[in-house]
Amino acid sequence: MEAIPFHRPYVGTEEEEAVIRVLRSGWLTTGVEALAFEKEFAEFLSQSPDPQSEYLQPEHLQSEHLQPQLLQSQLFCLAVNSATSGLHLALEAVGVGPGDAVFIPSYTFTATAEVVRYLGAEAVFVDIAPDSYNMDPIKLEAAISSITEKKQSSNAASAGLRPKAVIPVHIGGLPCDMEAISGIARRYGLAVVEDAAHAFPARMPDAARWAGTCGDAGVFSFYASKTITTGEGGMVVTAREELARRIQVMRSHGIDRPVWNRYTDTAASWFYEVVAPGFKYNLPDLLAAVGRVQLCRAMALLEMRLAIAQRYDRAFENEPALIIPPPGGARHLYTLRFMEPSQRDPFIEYLRNQGIGTSVHFIPLHIMPYYQERYGLQPEDLPESYKRFRETVSLPIWPGMSGEQADRVIEAALCFVGRHRSANP
Ligand SMILES: Cc1ncc(COP(=O)(O)O)c(C=O)c1O
Repeated sequence: MEAIPFHRPYVGTEEEEAVIRVLRSGWLTTGVEALAFEKEFAEFLSQSPDPQSEYLQPEHLQSEHLQPQLLQSQLFCLAVNSATSGLHLALEAVGVGPGDAVFIPSYTFTATAEVVRYLGAEAVFVDIAPDSYNMDPIKLEAAISSITEKKQSSNAASAGLRPKAVIPVHIGGLPCDMEAISGIARRYGLAVVEDAAHAFPARMPDAARWAGTCGDAGVFSFYASKTITTGEGGMVVTAREELARRIQVMRSHGIDRPVWNRYTDTAASWFYEVVAPGFKYNLPDLLAAVGRVQLCRAMALLEMRLAIAQRYDRAFENEPALIIPPPGGARHLYTLRFMEPSQRDPFIEYLRNQGIGTSVHFIPLHIMPYYQERYGLQPEDLPESYKRFRETVSLPIWPGMSGEQADRVIEAALCFVGRHRSANP
């Protein structure tokens, strides 16, 4: 029987043609395609996320067709070569540096934390909410207060740190409670950088905004397994012009002006100045051209993932051994929980033997050797993150996955659960 991979990207002849167009254009790195991708991305996010409102069809997403009344506000979109780079740039732009505390969930990929360390700041891990995969606002406030109190008193590890920023991560594309998190951030003067790596496109519960557009900046990923992909890539989104300007400078070596066209446009000047030791985080046109096609497919790809998630939900919702994921969001992941965590690893093995790929999102960072040692943490210090990690498995959910393939996953899962129940009545 044919194997069912954990993920397969959805790309077709349009993506192939886009790459060939760039290869033949005479310009392979950042240029007109990247600029167009940024513009079209901003246009997409400026549409109302309300499902009742009329969506622009992909062919109308090009700027000349955009209806101005659909624009919510001005958003600056900056294409980068990964979400990791985008998070680094966003934190740098909001002023994170040595001595700062950045509050992040432990239940995330290491990229969310490493960028904090790149800047010499410290990651302060916040547990997730019970029955959720996302940062618990109550625990966020407790973590901020504990640092503020320590600052005044003891010589504990986090004493002397300044609370500076928070990175809510929309795990699996499920939006965090941004109202609560933003309220806390405002009270304590923290910048909010959303890690929206999984969340394109995800409507916030009030359908008034898209995830990734609620904080000072938001960062999307176009890594190979993400909801839309360029292989590697990312986009930083912000409504704050001064942040956009800083990110634009820092993503291209700290050069003070766009100079990408100095070889292709005879009118462009050769002169530029370096105003900071920046990074090389630009997205090449070869990838941006793929991103433009994927952007046009974004809503259709979401519909395909939703259809698979609904199929899984219907099959598993009445199975007492399993807990289905909360509804909504971008449905980047389908995270299934076992009531009995000891079943998780044998389940992964069982599906592997049936030729079905799975994954685990996430091994919490506070049990990773580097962070565990640096911050002296024990697994039970963030009990919900540790619990969720041990009971959760991610099932295949990718656009282009057929109903029959989803049914094979369901059949294998229910068969495993049934066998386990007969063995342990
Ligand atoms: C939550 C989260 N944040 C950030 C990233 C980094 O994304 P990228 O691979 O585009 O750098 C990932 C990648 O998987 C992720 O899962």
